Amino acid sequence: MRLLCDLNAIDINSDNASSLLVEDYLIVCTGDKLHVYQNSCPHRRKPLNLISEKLLDEQKNFIRCEHHQALFTISQGLCISGPCTGGQLREIDFKVFDGKLYITEEKLMDDK
Ligand code: FES
Repeated sequence: MRLLCDLNAIDINSDNASSLLVEDYLIVCTGDKLHVYQNSCPHRRKPLNLISEKLLDEQKNFIRCEHHQALFTISQGLCISGPCTGGQLREIDFKVFDGKLYITEEKLMDDK
């Protein structure tokens, strides 16, 4: 188990979804639900971000890769539009304890 960030860093109480990049991980918060994904697009195995750290679409309904605009569902990381349709972001197990978010699995070496 490894500390990823303090929950204060995440916009948890917003009505809209919010995202935060920490190291190689993308944290997405929708209301009271958190999702953590490895920041690696299944299309080219590049980080989803290119020039910004805003990885949600304008309506904040989907995660969007900045490289070729693939869209992923927030709840499952499933690509529903773009060059990797049907592909999936790798979801990372985590725990929240004492106001902090910990990841409970490390990414696999071949996922780099
Ligand atoms: S690298 Fe993400 S859509 Fe191409």
